[in-house]
Amino acid sequence: MRTILISGANRGIGLNIAYRELKEGNRISAGVRDIESIKGSIIDPNKWPKERIIINKYDALDKSSAEKWISNTVNKFGSFDSVINCSGILSKVPFLFEDGDEKEILNTLNINFLAIWNLCRLSWENLCKSKRGRIIVLVSMSGKRSKGDLAAYSASKFALMGLCQTMKNKGWNENIRITAICPSWVNTKMAENISSIEKNNMTQPEDIADICSTILKLPTQSVPFEIALNCNYEV
Ligand SMILES: NC(=O)c1ccc[n+]([C@@H]2O[C@H](COP(=O)([O-])OP(=O)(O)OC[C@H]3O[C@@H](n4cnc5c(N)ncnc54)[C@H](OP(=O)(O)O)[C@@H]3O)[C@@H](O)[C@H]2O)c1
Repeated sequence: MRTILISGANRGIGLNIAYRELKEGNRISAGVRDIESIKGSIIDPNKWPKERIIINKYDALDKSSAEKWISNTVNKFGSFDSVINCSGILSKVPFLFEDGDEKEILNTLNINFLAIWNLCRLSWENLCKSKRGRIIVLVSMSGKRSKGDLAAYSASKFALMGLCQTMKNKGWNENIRITAICPSWVNTKMAENISSIEKNNMTQPEDIADICSTILKLPTQSVPFEIALNCNYEV
């Protein structure tokens, strides 16, 4: 059994991963901005045994909420061995940004990059102690190549990919394994305004939950570092 912190677990990819891991018998510590948003959902704690799930308030822009989330998790479960980072935002700020766009650029970097760094940093001691730590990070194909003009988003995801590589180095001898999942479009709210591809031709969030489930089951020597997922053809 694994004990897993999941950020952004109230909707989209995070919600699907949390549901899948609960169904597989793992313990979930969900981090969400709005605890009310979980009520009635597929991971509503009223639908699951009390010893299997806790919901914590987590705002990527509030460092203290990450600290409280981790201490609540250790108080409830004793320890944890996995962290899955799903919180993130899409920014459309282009390369030729307007004066004043700096605020959104920094906000994007703070949520998509710095907050994940901080959460993984604060989790490190518990992951080391487990001797089978796993960190899964929802990066993006935008963290591997820049196809259009989503300059702020892409920069935040390239930075995140760099962080994943450093965490891989740092965690290797501690048996911590990192996986950067890099999808193109996934059928969630984040992609709701994309018209270039039909929703059912996008990667589905359930597919990413399947991938995470496999990663968490693989032995340390077989965990992939990167999974690039194209739903449409790219040269
Ligand atoms: N969908 C795609 O096409 C796609 C492709 C590649 C990579 N990704 C990445 O996959 C991850 C999950 O995206 P998704 O598709 O599931 O998007 P989504 O449905 O828009 O969900 C985003 C999640 O991030 C949370 N979040 C946003 N700002 C936050 C903050 N300040 N503090 C804490 N949580 C915050 C949201 O919480 P609230 O409900 O409170 O806003 C929500 O749970 C993101 O990192 C995204 O960049 C997505």
